[in-house]
Amino acid sequence: MDDLDQRKRGLWGSKVGSIFAATGSAIGLGNIWRFPTKVSENGGAIFVLIYILAVVLIGLTVMLAELVIGRHSQRNPVGAFKNIKPKTPWKFVGYLGVLTGILILSYYTVIAGWAAAYILKTAKGTFRGNITSESVHQVFQEFSGNPVQVTLFFFFAISITCFIVSKGIKSGIERWTKILMPFLFLLIVFLAIRALTLPGASEGISFYLKPDFSKLSGAVVLFALGQAFFSLSLGMGMMITYGSYISKSDNLVSSAGWVCFADSLVAFTAGLIIFPTLAFAGILGKVKGESLIFEGYPLIFSTIPGGYILGTLFFILVLIAAITSTISALEVAVAYFVDERNWSRGKAAWLVGLCAFLLGIPSALSFGGMQVFTKIKVLTRVDFVCANVSPAVGALFICIFIGYAWGIKNAVKEIRSGNPRFRLQPIWVFSVKYLSPIAIIIILYFIKTATG
Ligand code: PHE
Repeated sequence: MDDLDQRKRGLWGSKVGSIFAATGSAIGLGNIWRFPTKVSENGGAIFVLIYILAVVLIGLTVMLAELVIGRHSQRNPVGAFKNIKPKTPWKFVGYLGVLTGILILSYYTVIAGWAAAYILKTAKGTFRGNITSESVHQVFQEFSGNPVQVTLFFFFAISITCFIVSKGIKSGIERWTKILMPFLFLLIVFLAIRALTLPGASEGISFYLKPDFSKLSGAVVLFALGQAFFSLSLGMGMMITYGSYISKSDNLVSSAGWVCFADSLVAFTAGLIIFPTLAFAGILGKVKGESLIFEGYPLIFSTIPGGYILGTLFFILVLIAAITSTISALEVAVAYFVDERNWSRGKAAWLVGLCAFLLGIPSALSFGGMQVFTKIKVLTRVDFVCANVSPAVGALFICIFIGYAWGIKNAVKEIRSGNPRFRLQPIWVFSVKYLSPIAIIIILYFIKTATG
């Protein structure tokens, strides 16, 4: 691709901007909503331990692998495989990514809509005064069972996403992420300090940080790996797409390392807030599933003077974190239609958004509203496939592609542009060629146990 074409596609304004944007994609509901949910469902600290191992041993490897493919080809995931290995079936790995991105968008934005609704609820004072775990539970039930409200907020969240993506790379995605992410982090740290000083916090902390090895199972490992991929936005071409906007002089290794570190730190801190709070309220282990943070957070705000203002701010930031992720999910598909099908950015963003909206309606109604959807809990099922199965398969193929199809030498050459020394080369090569693919295959085997 020549310079002119690349300028037309857009590039990140700076290295910091590109890292912020990738971190923005990574940090989202996956950290604040999904991570605590999965920890609570999968035995607490043992899950946290396996999760950390999955990030360090596999996540980092795959992150760098995707960034390399993206920057080398400077294309969307489908175009990237076509560009490096023309006329081969490798492009289907890219299609899988585009499809997963759209599916993730479809249900993830539902939860983003919940966060939007909770901004208003908190600001209105719904959680002020003497609230109890029962009253918070009831608020959630009423809200999530109201099909009109849920769908409206879902529509709202998807519309903002389409709007930002239609505006393009530098002025849209990068600008917003840079301004807003640091705020979120500061607030989370503040809340964690508050949660850790609540009476009874220690029970929550030991659930969260003291591993009980008897709870280790194949399913726990599968869910932990899935959570690592989901949280780092890996295995579906997201980081290929973002890598395609990174300049040749940037150091991809440090970018990958930073994104993994920042993402894990936020998830970890989110756990430090929620588990002590649940223990304090006496509901640790009793609330599980998708409603966990929506029932847990209001409780901590009620322990802080003026907490409802902080609570409002918190849900605003959660919504922003979610939106910086939804725009990345949409961006994968949009980059595909812009690069490969010559659509305009605006048309691609709004049409794909509409598709995701229609696809997401069963998820939106799966907590009440329509029995067909509540019975099978559509959202939970779509989430299972999009977070555990599809990214793992995608990541497996990405490793095999680099190790055996494109060739490790070519990948290393691309990494050395911007990082001439590449000290971690032997470890990365070993992980891409052997460790990560073998581990993923073994873990995928547990799907059977996880689905019962
Ligand atoms: N990484 C995002 C999060 O943790 C989720 C996500 C995955 C978003 C894949 C887009 C694509 O919230």
